[in-house]
Amino acid sequence: MKKRTILFLLCVAPITCTPEMSAQNVIPHPQRMTVKEGKLDISSYLSFKTNLTGKELGDMVEYIKDTPLRIDYSAEEGLNKCLTMEIDKENELGDEGYILKVGASGINIYAQTSAGLFYGLQSVLQLAEEDNYNSIKYVEIFDKPRFEYRGLHLDESRHFSSTEFVKKQLDALARYKMNRFHWHLTDGAGWRIEIKKYPRLTNFAAWRPYETWKEWWNANRHYCNQDDADAHGGYYTQEEIREIIDYAAKRHITIIPEIEMPGHSEEVLAAYPLLSCSNDMYKNSDFCIGKEATFAFIEDVLDEVIDLFPSHYIHIGGDEAAKSGWKTCPDCMKRMKEEGLKDVDELQSYMIHRVEQYVNSKGRDIIGWDEILEGGLAPNATVMSWRGEQGGITAAKSGHKVVMTPGDFCYLDSYQSDPSSEPEAIGGYLTIEKVYSYNPVSAALNDEQAEMIIGVQGNVWREYMPTLEHTEYMIYPRILAIAEVGWTMPENKNWNNFRERVNNEIPRLIREGYNPYTLSADIETPMRIDYNKKEIKVALECERTGINIHYTTDGTEPNTNSPIYEDSLTVKGTMHLSARAFSEGKPVGKVLRKDIDFHKAIGKKITLKTKYSPNYPASGEYTLIDGYHGGKGYNDGKWLGFLNTDVDAVIDLGEKTRISRISTLGMQAKGPYVWLPQYIKIQTSNDGKKFKDLDTLTHDIPTDREGVVFHDFVWEGKTTARFIRIYAKIVDIEGGWIFLDEIVVK
Ligand code: ACM
Ligand code: ZN
Repeated sequence: MKKRTILFLLCVAPITCTPEMSAQNVIPHPQRMTVKEGKLDISSYLSFKTNLTGKELGDMVEYIKDTPLRIDYSAEEGLNKCLTMEIDKENELGDEGYILKVGASGINIYAQTSAGLFYGLQSVLQLAEEDNYNSIKYVEIFDKPRFEYRGLHLDESRHFSSTEFVKKQLDALARYKMNRFHWHLTDGAGWRIEIKKYPRLTNFAAWRPYETWKEWWNANRHYCNQDDADAHGGYYTQEEIREIIDYAAKRHITIIPEIEMPGHSEEVLAAYPLLSCSNDMYKNSDFCIGKEATFAFIEDVLDEVIDLFPSHYIHIGGDEAAKSGWKTCPDCMKRMKEEGLKDVDELQSYMIHRVEQYVNSKGRDIIGWDEILEGGLAPNATVMSWRGEQGGITAAKSGHKVVMTPGDFCYLDSYQSDPSSEPEAIGGYLTIEKVYSYNPVSAALNDEQAEMIIGVQGNVWREYMPTLEHTEYMIYPRILAIAEVGWTMPENKNWNNFRERVNNEIPRLIREGYNPYTLSADIETPMRIDYNKKEIKVALECERTGINIHYTTDGTEPNTNSPIYEDSLTVKGTMHLSARAFSEGKPVGKVLRKDIDFHKAIGKKITLKTKYSPNYPASGEYTLIDGYHGGKGYNDGKWLGFLNTDVDAVIDLGEKTRISRISTLGMQAKGPYVWLPQYIKIQTSNDGKKFKDLDTLTHDIPTDREGVVFHDFVWEGKTTARFIRIYAKIVDIEGGWIFLDEIVVK
């Protein structure tokens, strides 16, 4: 299970808007695109002209033949309009860039490589769709990617897919100019790649007596034999893998295999228990690093993997090793003594160094999750930064290459919309807008260090994706945002423009047989607070386009006669806002009902007697009385996080004040150990010294409740006071968070 116990706050870089951007439906957005007057008729055949030769020519023709473009390959000189694909070494396009010119004479693509020509072709295909491949607007594009690595990661262990499914995803990646597929082929829930030397990996460790990961996880987490009647799972044969690699290569996608070590290896150790510290099945999750047999096994497996996969990188995992068995294992202790390793972190690092040397000796490099930094990073390793960005920043500063995949922006297993109306996910909350906002180059890096950031990747962990349909639902459309983050320069990105293009793309994904999330029709209410004017500006926003937002401010339900939202609303005091999206006169999405208050504590003084966590500081203690409410995820910068402590806050209203309501919202998400307070005690005082109890607010939500739950702790009555003390008691569970967003005083 991905533990997600380490939670980082990441700052969202502001998006620069380029107002003149065209919403021409190309994803990712090209760096420079000029749409011109006129269009080229492509309803009849174009001839084909190219200086590609050999396999590159064969692959390109084979690919184009599968598209709706009408090309006559035999009519080079015969037809007056032409598709030209020309390798031109003279230009500034790098390994993947292209120039596309569509004019009266035809479609001309220039690039230094066949990959560049292929990406030019992808832009042609997207542009031609607008008129069902009958015409294409005259256009000039100069385009090349921001990053060399633009990836999707797919977990095959928790739930296994199929050759056909993988090829379908590769088709989509190619369309969005993505070029890496990180294939997570081994993990505790099942081994998924045929290794000829170790048949028990695939006739035993690839099978379990439960269909879904969740059933298996909640039962005994045992494996079974392939030929057992109730065996579920599977693996890719080497022949299938070769076929998939070839399919990907024709789409200019490199497949990077991941073989997990030393942790997440329960399945290997069940099949080959002698590779564990205990020599027993179902006891350890980590390989024993003391035994030479472990290295013999890993080298044998890597031999077959390297033989199959031509990728420069071999991913060796490295994440979340428990490291516990090593502390008492005689073999591991002996290894540590002999090698002068002072702790288990260094023992892990010993293993990664040794495996790196082996992989390097075969002419390849390793890439691993950011835990491979612990105990010292192997000299040529590339780091995949998932526990926030810090690992990546540290690696880049020490001259290592980095792929950024921080959980808060790149984990496509998080909820993408209101968890209460979404199928169960692992936790977290990551809207497509937030994915889109990501900038893989942290401000903490100077220009030279920034060069070490080679790209970005969306990660799909499938604990809670039991079906292929559901897997696609989580991938699309968020992967389109990853594609644009990876390709398009920040100054050419624009959320509203992207939102338009993604909305246009969704029907096409559906037509092509994908199962995307169709974006939320619910209303979000970003606010701006003016403390001097004592007013709040509220915007009403929606992921969907092509809708009208109608709203009311008197508590009644909005309908098509209610005002249409155009510009931000101004709130002084309290507004009882209701809003809903309507499409063609019919309501879509949920009704938003929200009281927006410039309440009595905003802008007053607050003192915290307990400390908030530096990982979730939001904007400090004033977060609790700044008027801004948190959203559905604790990591949006509006929730103040307290780790392993009660919350004790005193608000000074400045003068004796009449109070009729005090409330604060709490959140619970069991996965990442975020708990509602056991209770919240409210006290008041007039001198700030002697407090008297006003009320103690409790709730009845159990800590084992699945998913994300919110609870509003509310006191209502009549009192007067200058000081209010809020005391939130943490649950009696080892370790955990309390998140509060605002203490509302009316
Ligand atoms: C990871 O999510 N454990 C890399
Ligand atoms: Zn051991």
